[in-house]
Amino acid sequence: MTYRDFQKIDPKEINQNPLTLIDDDWFLLSAGNLDSFNTMTASWGGMGLLWNKPVVFCFVRPQRYTYKFMESNDLFTVSFFEEVHRDALNLCGKVSGRQIDKIKATGLKPIESPAGSVFFEQSKLMLECRKLYFSDIVPEHFLVDKINANYPKKDYHRMYIGEIISCFNNFK
Ligand SMILES: Cc1cc2nc3c(=O)[nH]c(=O)nc-3n(C[C@H](O)[C@H](O)[C@H](O)COP(=O)(O)O)c2cc1C
Repeated sequence: MTYRDFQKIDPKEINQNPLTLIDDDWFLLSAGNLDSFNTMTASWGGMGLLWNKPVVFCFVRPQRYTYKFMESNDLFTVSFFEEVHRDALNLCGKVSGRQIDKIKATGLKPIESPAGSVFFEQSKLMLECRKLYFSDIVPEHFLVDKINANYPKKDYHRMYIGEIISCFNNFK
């Protein structure tokens, strides 16, 4: 299977609620190319419009192995899956790519996009993004004290905003 087996759509044609996709389904955030990449489960982020571009924003704590790949690559991908793949997402959200080969452990099949980034044969929807901007969460800017509870280790996320440059659909 290659990216050609997916249908390329306009991001505006995504026909699922983004909150459901992100909060309920979760996604795999991947960066790198087929020779060297990492992927991790994420469920914080969003889709929207910024600077007249369709964008994704996501949040990565600095200790994630994926962080290194997010930093050293211009592109990242956000891949969504059907419920049957929940075990794979659980594993990619629990164990680090520093410890195990997530691809071997999950049976996920990586595919390279025409632009050279990685997503998965099993994905139902993939958004390929070009990094536009990053910013680190600054605790002094929390307007609600309770948010601090997310950061007992003070490992503040780095936010990445990426322009959606391709959108591949494989909804059954
Ligand atoms: C449902 C779920 C959502 C997660 N969301 C995020 C997230 O948005 N940002 C983040 O930095 N880590 C998140 N994580 C934790 C990472 O997926 C986890 O630490 C993973 O093992 C990191 O892998 P890596 O070290 O190979 O990058 C989430 C985990 C789960 C199970």
